[in-house]
Amino acid sequence: MKSEKKQRQAPRTDGNRPEGNGTEGNRPGADQSRADREGRDRSDRDRSGISRRRLLGTAGATGAAGLVVGGAGGAFGGYVARADDGAALTSVGANAIPFHGAHQAGIVDPAQAFGHLAAFDLVAGAGRKEAVALMRRWSRAAEAMTAGRTPDDDDQVALDAGPCSLTVTFGFGRSFFGKAGLADRVPSALVTMPSFTQDAIDRANSDGDLWIQIGADDGLVAFHALRVLQREAAPAAKLRWQMNGFNRTPGATAKPRTVRNLMGQIDGTNNPKPTDKAFAAQVFASGGAGADAWMDGGSYAVVRRIRMLLDSWDQLPTQRQEEVIGRHKASGAPLSGGTETTPVDLDKIDPDGSLAVPGDAHIRVAAAQSNGGAAMLRRGFSYHDGYDADGTPNAGLLFIAWQADPSNGFIKVQSKLDGGDGLSRFIRHESSALFAVPGGPASGEYVGQRLLES
Ligand code: HEM
Repeated sequence: MKSEKKQRQAPRTDGNRPEGNGTEGNRPGADQSRADREGRDRSDRDRSGISRRRLLGTAGATGAAGLVVGGAGGAFGGYVARADDGAALTSVGANAIPFHGAHQAGIVDPAQAFGHLAAFDLVAGAGRKEAVALMRRWSRAAEAMTAGRTPDDDDQVALDAGPCSLTVTFGFGRSFFGKAGLADRVPSALVTMPSFTQDAIDRANSDGDLWIQIGADDGLVAFHALRVLQREAAPAAKLRWQMNGFNRTPGATAKPRTVRNLMGQIDGTNNPKPTDKAFAAQVFASGGAGADAWMDGGSYAVVRRIRMLLDSWDQLPTQRQEEVIGRHKASGAPLSGGTETTPVDLDKIDPDGSLAVPGDAHIRVAAAQSNGGAAMLRRGFSYHDGYDADGTPNAGLLFIAWQADPSNGFIKVQSKLDGGDGLSRFIRHESSALFAVPGGPASGEYVGQRLLES
């Protein structure tokens, strides 16, 4: 590895440079959206009736009338909870993300500290009727939990906590449609995922009829949601696979920053931003009038469990690691210069005549301008499932990419990365799935109603 050199020939690129970068929580504009949300959340919370007792319960557990919590350096800290005014202990617990809306929650919202992914298959004999009942049950439970209310027959695992930015996002896999008698409703963008030459896919941990993505900034709240929904799945569906992930905890850094992955890189910088003109068209489907109409406002989630070959990666000197990605490890700045948010200059030539961003650097090969404009919103979770018997870490990235059309998003980019990406020597794709994630439910609607009742 140490003798590897930058590839000097400039690969072909097309289109324009990316229009800038974003920071924090994988997504640009997240500061603002978090602030907006907090404003919205307060009233949601009031309406949702999270009880004063519930919030005070945690204060009581500390045995203190007032408690100061917060992040390093105090920049995020200084939240004072007083037991006598019913104020939230922290903004982390009190944040609520609305379940209803044009799009499902858990796509544009900052990725939370804890994530659970679960795929289910309909049981033999279950069809559309059972699927309707299931989606009603799931939606009712998710709506309650995301607002900080307890679902029916609660096990009380999350009883003392606020909603903690809980989101629950539901999707349908290709295999669902035939079983539910909806073969004529398979949206055209929900293609069969092609195989890539470097795939090492475990089919038992891939695909699935139904998918749930759960995110929350508290581990108990996240687990609770998973457990409640998994229990509600019976008798219509049974678990096919399940994965757990995490991100940095809000407040862990002095100010909001883009998250790091388990290779130590700042990851999420050059994601499409909600403020970009093209954002909605890149990320959200516009259903049209035909069989795809029910997907209006929806999105397609590509889920890949990507193991990081951390032992090999750790042997690489930092400078080589930076050449593999095309960005400085500590700052996230592109090797073409500037800061994390400086647009990458893929054409820049260093004084020694080599490309500043190497020919096989991940950000060059994955860039929209190298892939005919193909783009996706990456919003993943790190995972760590212990160590293999030989001491190898079983860890990596639960890569989740959101796009309006996977053929012009993940599939296009991955076809290029497969073999052409310097990073591919240090990662292994072990699970794969693609789900159609319908638009958000209107008040009184359940998720998927427009499909199941069309
Ligand atoms: C474990 C696997 C992966 C790791 C560790 C990783 C890491 C990174 C890092 C550190 C960046 C630079 C910062 C940023 O803009 O976010 C980046 C950018 C990017 N990655 Fe990945 N990535 C992985 C897999 C993938 C896959 C499978 C795809 C898509 C098929 C992908 C698509 C992208 C794109 C589109 C960018 C932005 C490129 C640009 O325009 O600057 N990545 N990735």
